[in-house]
Amino acid sequence: MARTPTRAEVRKQRMQQAVNFPLDWLEERSGLVGGVRYFLLRKVPGDTNWMQTLGSATLTAFLVQAITGVILAMYYKPTPTDAYPSIVNITDHVTMGWLVRGMHRWGASVFIILMFLHMGRVFLFGAYKYPRELNWIIGVLLLVMGMTEGFTGYLLPWDQTAYWATVVGINLNGTAPFLGPWLAQFLRGGQDIGGETLTRFYSLHMLVVPGAIIGLITLHLYLVIRLGVTSPPWSKEAAGTERADEPSTARAGLTRPVTRGAGGSD
Ligand code: HEM
Repeated sequence: MARTPTRAEVRKQRMQQAVNFPLDWLEERSGLVGGVRYFLLRKVPGDTNWMQTLGSATLTAFLVQAITGVILAMYYKPTPTDAYPSIVNITDHVTMGWLVRGMHRWGASVFIILMFLHMGRVFLFGAYKYPRELNWIIGVLLLVMGMTEGFTGYLLPWDQTAYWATVVGINLNGTAPFLGPWLAQFLRGGQDIGGETLTRFYSLHMLVVPGAIIGLITLHLYLVIRLGVTSPPWSKEAAGTERADEPSTARAGLTRPVTRGAGGSD
């Protein structure tokens, strides 16, 4: 005869059911739980290096910028008369405003520096080579977007430094061949730097560029998961080493991958 479970066992069983029920519900309808489990438990090379945490560090810096930015947006007023006073209010009067603003301002530099360090690691490890070229290209777009975010954010305090730095930045862009004058006009939102420029920079800084960065990061991470992480250059499996075996022909899609240098017979 089956043993009657103890009260502790019954309690444990109930707890498990309470946790599993919503997870099973979600998994059955979306497959999300399996997806997250795959993401967290996927295999990475055994010789993965600390330098390979720089991408995640960059992601963390971006998330800090996003969170502190949303808080700042609750108090910031993007008009020429109100912008600077609202910044003073955030710094001097809003509870912990000085901290949130400081984190956002310094965090911007941290984000850019980490992005360059991560890019340097990818370069030194040869991780931009086949089949990760597309992820490098997405990375370059992320770098451009990251710097645009810094440039557009710099004007928002609307003080002398912000104003004149933007004059220099827009004039520099204006010297680019062909597109330069159009770009300068687009950034200014008119002939002069004024209220129109501030509104434009605010919209780019709050909506357009972060939206693009979030989309690009999603693609970037999708490719990191799909292609796997590269081994360091001193490993036998380092990026760019020729594969000995023919890739499986079972993976017939738009392209049929063949070993590089193998001639590409079908
Ligand atoms: C917002 C900026 C960025 C974020 C959040 C980000 C995030 C990440 C993460 C989490 C990884 C996997 C872990 C790692 O290798 O560190 C990764 C890999 C990679 N990233 Fe980035 N990245 C950014 C910018 C860039 C830039 C600027 C480049 C190059 C121009 C780049 C190129 C790559 C490449 C090629 C890989 C694959 C590396 C490998 O498989 O070893 N990323 N990125």
